[in-house]
Amino acid sequence: MIIYFTGTGNSRYCAQFLADKLQDACVDAFPMIRQGAKTDLHSETPWVFVAPTYAWQAPRIFVQFLHDTMFCGNRLAYFILTCGGETGNAHEQLAQACREKGLCDQGLLSVIMPDNYLVMFPSPKPEEVKQKIEAARPNLEMAVEKILAGQPFPAKRPGALDKLKSGPVNEGMYRFFIKPSRFFSTDACVSCGKCQEVCPLGNISLTNGRPVWSNQCTHCMACLCGCPTGAIEYGKRTQGKARYQCPPYQG
Ligand SMILES: Cc1cc2nc3c(=O)[nH]c(=O)nc-3n(C[C@H](O)[C@H](O)[C@H](O)COP(=O)(O)O)c2cc1C
Ligand code: SF4
Ligand code: SF4
Repeated sequence: MIIYFTGTGNSRYCAQFLADKLQDACVDAFPMIRQGAKTDLHSETPWVFVAPTYAWQAPRIFVQFLHDTMFCGNRLAYFILTCGGETGNAHEQLAQACREKGLCDQGLLSVIMPDNYLVMFPSPKPEEVKQKIEAARPNLEMAVEKILAGQPFPAKRPGALDKLKSGPVNEGMYRFFIKPSRFFSTDACVSCGKCQEVCPLGNISLTNGRPVWSNQCTHCMACLCGCPTGAIEYGKRTQGKARYQCPPYQG
């Protein structure tokens, strides 16, 4: 079973690619994360977890989902983190989660996709999006081969810098930067409520037809990039930037 979490579609694209080639089920973790419910899942085929990289780690809400869920059946667990460039030492925490769940860790594969972190970086240009998605395919095909063969992904030895980024830098990012305080909606808002629906943390409510952000935010970019009228901004950091959504997987 392939289970994914996504903010702007990159991880869904990769999960659907894998599900298509492996002829396996593709499950969105969103409703389980949003409800915060403890769930039991069963799969006869290996578990394949696909998620974005946030500050050189798997998203904290996805790691929490792994802790909260009972995985029955097959014991093999593969991890795929989509990223803009690098995943640092993200594997260590996922390997630890496997040990706690009695799953057999088959390694982490980093798949470079367009960078969706508009709060920090420019939006990817259409040509770049196309090129990066194309370049990701051989990597995903290799993943399919390994999963079918029951072999682990190639191991990568983390360096001191990887450990620094996934450790103290990640902590600092979550503590000081990954906050919803600068989100606001402009007069382009048409009160459709989509931002409220797409937030995995249920962090957005509508008051007088306009979104209000509470304190639980993981900067997934789903509200900012999913607003149909581009009415959501993050301070001045997102002004004038095209919103990013991964094109749908088409086989
Ligand atoms: C909060 C946040 C933090 C990110 N941190 C990293 C990072 O540490 N390394 C990296 O290569 N990409 C990073 N990115 C880029 C995303 O991991 C990447 O674009 C991913 O494919 C987005 O997946 P999605 O479309 O499934 O949400 C970050 C993006 C966000 C929103
Ligand atoms: S998604 Fe955009 S238009 Fe719809 S309510 Fe939210 S801010 Fe307003
Ligand atoms: S408030 Fe927006 S950026 Fe923050 S978690 Fe919710 S959808 Fe993602």
